Amino acid sequence: MLETRELTIRFGGHVAVDAVSCAFHPGTLTAIVGPNGAGKTTYFNLISGQLKASAGSVHLGGTDITGEPVSARTHRGLGRAFQLTQLFPNLTVAENVRLAVQSRRREGLDLWSVWSDRRETRERAQELVDRVQLHDRSAALASSLPHGDQRKLEVAMLMALEPSVYMFDEPTAGMSTSDVPVILDLVRTLKRDRTKTILLVEHKMDVVRELADRIIVLHNGRLVADGEPAEVIASPIVQQAYLGLAPEVSLPAAIGSPPIPAFPLEGEGGDRAHREQ
Ligand SMILES: Nc1ncnc2c1ncn2[C@@H]1O[C@H](COP(=O)(O)OP(=O)(O)OP(=O)(O)O)[C@@H](O)[C@H]1O
Ligand SMILES: [Mg+2]
Repeated sequence: MLETRELTIRFGGHVAVDAVSCAFHPGTLTAIVGPNGAGKTTYFNLISGQLKASAGSVHLGGTDITGEPVSARTHRGLGRAFQLTQLFPNLTVAENVRLAVQSRRREGLDLWSVWSDRRETRERAQELVDRVQLHDRSAALASSLPHGDQRKLEVAMLMALEPSVYMFDEPTAGMSTSDVPVILDLVRTLKRDRTKTILLVEHKMDVVRELADRIIVLHNGRLVADGEPAEVIASPIVQQAYLGLAPEVSLPAAIGSPPIPAFPLEGEGGDRAHREQ
């Protein structure tokens, strides 16, 4: 089980994540929703160790990992999608995935298994490249990939690490409509493996509605709702937070009842709210 207790980070006077206590269980996909700037990515960064908490703690399998660096957390099974900056731009797609497979397999490697392990590593990497439908791009340099393919590569590398906790931060953002189902199918496959804990930050409410077993809502860094999807979506706090804040925001047409408001952006910078359209 992954758990955060009163997890908090302040940037100057701004509390980006404010005393968030939440537990995430294996076999559950939790969608994390909230307006732009709510603190979703920052919450992920605190869990994965990219950011250091100002207060509170992170626990994995009963161990307090708050003081551990990213690498130690990854080793424990916390899987955060690789950021584009973590890919090796001058290596091919296949080589990037192979490196991720190797880093996973370093543990337990012995001299007698070097050859077979190499072959297995190659095969496992190829399988992952196929699963994200990058087989045509296997020999292409990571740096040459269009955005959607780079994101697919990130997911392949994340899966290569075989984490017990998967953290997806808007995995389909900026993807073409033909690429989106590839990623969503992989998330569905992971969900069927009832041992995985999946956290998904997602703005597309039809995706949330389909995949989530549970929804938590962050707003101004605080956890303001937590529960079963239909219940959370219909809850007064969500309706009030979103409808109340920006009544002029139109409801997305694709979504059935109860109506789910589009997440408005508070204050300036309204262009970001529409960056995915
Ligand atoms: N390194 C940082 N330094 C200062 N402020 C930061 C930093 N990282 C995030 N913030 C601020 O923390 C708040 C939360 O940002 P965050 O990126 O976590 O929001 P988000 O919910 O992921 O939004 P989006 O839906 O747009 O991705 C924002 O006000 C942001 O400006
Ligand atoms: Mg974000």
